Amino acid sequence: MDLDRHTIAAALAPQLHRLATPALVIDLDAVDHNIAAMRRRAGERWRPHLKTLKSAALIARLLAAGVTRCKVATLDELDLALGTADHHGVGLDVLLAYPQHPDGLRAALSRAARSPACRVHYLLDSPEHAALLAYAVPFDRPLAVFLDVDLGMRRTGAPAAVWRAALPALLADPGLRIAGLHGYEGHLEWDDRAGAAAAHDTLCTLARELPATDLEIVTSGTHSYAAALVHPGLAGGPWQHRVSPGTVVLADLHSRAAMTDLGLRQAVVIASRVISTGAGRITLDAGSKALAPDRPPSSARLLGWPGLTPSVRSEEHLVVAVADDIEAPGLGELVLLVPDHVCTSVNLYRHALLLRGAVIVGEAAIEASSRRLWLTEAT
Ligand SMILES: Cc1ncc(COP(=O)(O)O)c(C=O)c1O
Repeated sequence: MDLDRHTIAAALAPQLHRLATPALVIDLDAVDHNIAAMRRRAGERWRPHLKTLKSAALIARLLAAGVTRCKVATLDELDLALGTADHHGVGLDVLLAYPQHPDGLRAALSRAARSPACRVHYLLDSPEHAALLAYAVPFDRPLAVFLDVDLGMRRTGAPAAVWRAALPALLADPGLRIAGLHGYEGHLEWDDRAGAAAAHDTLCTLARELPATDLEIVTSGTHSYAAALVHPGLAGGPWQHRVSPGTVVLADLHSRAAMTDLGLRQAVVIASRVISTGAGRITLDAGSKALAPDRPPSSARLLGWPGLTPSVRSEEHLVVAVADDIEAPGLGELVLLVPDHVCTSVNLYRHALLLRGAVIVGEAAIEASSRRLWLTEAT
């Protein structure tokens, strides 16, 4: 059951006097529930994206549930995924699903070499990208790559026709091993089944032109996994198909369709306090440096306070409109916010408070939040 505001407030009460708000609060029971729900739906076809979690404590929950494959975007996430897998004795298979420039690839290869029990796959953005990497990074063994297929999102990757034309040269290149296709259809809405089917057909047609041995097709986040999992071509080819939703582990307002579909629970709230009150408003200490800076302020929700609507935001302030005759929390009072976008919210924190049920059970570092300065140690 979703924790309500009174249960979370009771859990925080013994420590509230020393809690620095805004604070990231994670319910581990909900995390485990959500992981189990996604595993029941997708089984071995789930390769979760760790960009949502960014924390060894949360990645450990995936490993404990038997997840042995994942996707990452940054070198910090790669480092954390490999380090956590090594610590737990799991041979993790990681797809670095972000096109690397040559310096980034060198750094990723050197990090991967320190975790020989794990496997890392890299993304090729286009035939030009393949040529640049081959020229700039001398591979001492074939680089295991996924071809990034642009399915209409027009963000990264090359269209299937471009890859098809380049296949003879890529397949003949001794420096490359094509391990799979990556097609992220993040431009599609949950209900766009026709758009999803067309995108997935495109991937299957291209995959048929590749040697079948060990080929993997990776698609889909939280807004399209359901369509991908029932696509007959993806499920029935001489390849493995996997989906890569990450938000499903924590849930947010934007993932409502997946929450209903899988029976997910909201696992994250941002704890904040009322720092100012005025006519028709209260102001919370959770601005754009605390909560989903990529979404409009009005998209967050106050847990258990109907009639209160976030309206205006600055870096450290969230102004909440209070309708006439509506009860509102008073100065200093705790308010729990449900983020519209959990990934960009988690990324703002270095630590999270962990709950199980109505009890604080510890805290976790968000090791891969924010940005590193250097690709590698100075030599
Ligand atoms: C390449 C890629 N894969 C998978 C995902 C899935 O993430 P989510 O579960 O947050 O939709 C994303 C989200 O941005 C992505 O960019």
